[in-house]
Amino acid sequence: MSNQPIGVFDSGYGGLTILKELVATLPEYDYLYLGDNARAPYGDKTFEEVYAYTLQSVEWFFKQGCSLVILACNTASAKALRTIQQNNLPSLDPNKRVLGVIRPTSEVIGQLTQSKHIGVLGTQGTIKSESYLLEIAKFFPEIKVTQEACPEWVSLVEKNLYASTEADYSVKYHIDEILSKDAKIDTLLLACTHYPILINKIKQFTPAGIRIISQGEIVAKSLISYLNNHKEMETKCSKMSKKRFFTTGDVEDFNEHASLFFGAEIVAEKLIF
Ligand code: DGL
Repeated sequence: MSNQPIGVFDSGYGGLTILKELVATLPEYDYLYLGDNARAPYGDKTFEEVYAYTLQSVEWFFKQGCSLVILACNTASAKALRTIQQNNLPSLDPNKRVLGVIRPTSEVIGQLTQSKHIGVLGTQGTIKSESYLLEIAKFFPEIKVTQEACPEWVSLVEKNLYASTEADYSVKYHIDEILSKDAKIDTLLLACTHYPILINKIKQFTPAGIRIISQGEIVAKSLISYLNNHKEMETKCSKMSKKRFFTTGDVEDFNEHASLFFGAEIVAEKLIF
C-alpha cells in the first residue's frame, strides 16, 4: 500500500481555497498541506527568495513521500515553478512532479469570455512576472489581457480585514483601475489564492455582467485530467481520505484563521525549517 499524499503548497492560507475544491472534487485522495506562514507574504519578495523558499518546501514534501506536489500559490508558480521543474527536479527525483496553477487557469480562461477581454488581478510578483500574459497568449492569442496588482489585498485577508471599510476602499480602487484600463473586460480572474476570501467585496464593486473567476474549481478539474492521463502517478497517490496540515508559522493562529479559507476546522502541525 502506498502512502503518498498529494502535496499542496502555499505561502500561507491562500492555498486552502484550492485544497477545499480538490477535496470536494477528489475526496478519496490523501493530502498534505504546507503553508509557509512564517515567511509570507511572497507577493513582494524577490525571485531569489520565492524560489529558495518554494524549493525548500518542495524538498520537504518529497521527504514526506509525496510524488506529486501542487504549488497552489500564483506567486510561487510564477517565480519558482519553471526553474524547479527544469533545474531541480531531474536531480531531486525525475519520477516526481511539481505542478502550478497558472497553466491550468490559462488553458481554460479564454473559454469564459465573450468579449475576448480579460482582467487579471494578482500580487505584485505575479503581475510583474507577466506569466499570465505569456501563458494566456499561448492558448488564446486573440484575447486581450489587462493586469492589475493589488498589493494590499493579501494583508487585508491575513489581518482578518476582508469585511472592513479599508477593504471597501482598496477593492473599489483596484476594480475601478483595471476597468478603466480596458472597458471591454467581461471576465475578471482572481489570480491569487487569497482573493476568494474578498469575493463579497469584489462582487459589490464589480459592475453586473462581469464574470469573476476563482481558481479552485479550475485547478481541481485540471488535476482530474492530469491523474487520468498519468496512471503511473495516479496509482502512487494514496487514497484513504486523510489530510494533514503543516505551517511554518504559529499553529494556534493558523488553526484560528484556516477554517475561513478551508471551510472546516483544521488542526495544524508545526514545521521548522
Ligand atoms: N496566495 C498567494 C498567491 O496566490 C500570494 C500570497 C502572498 O503574497 O504570499 O499568489
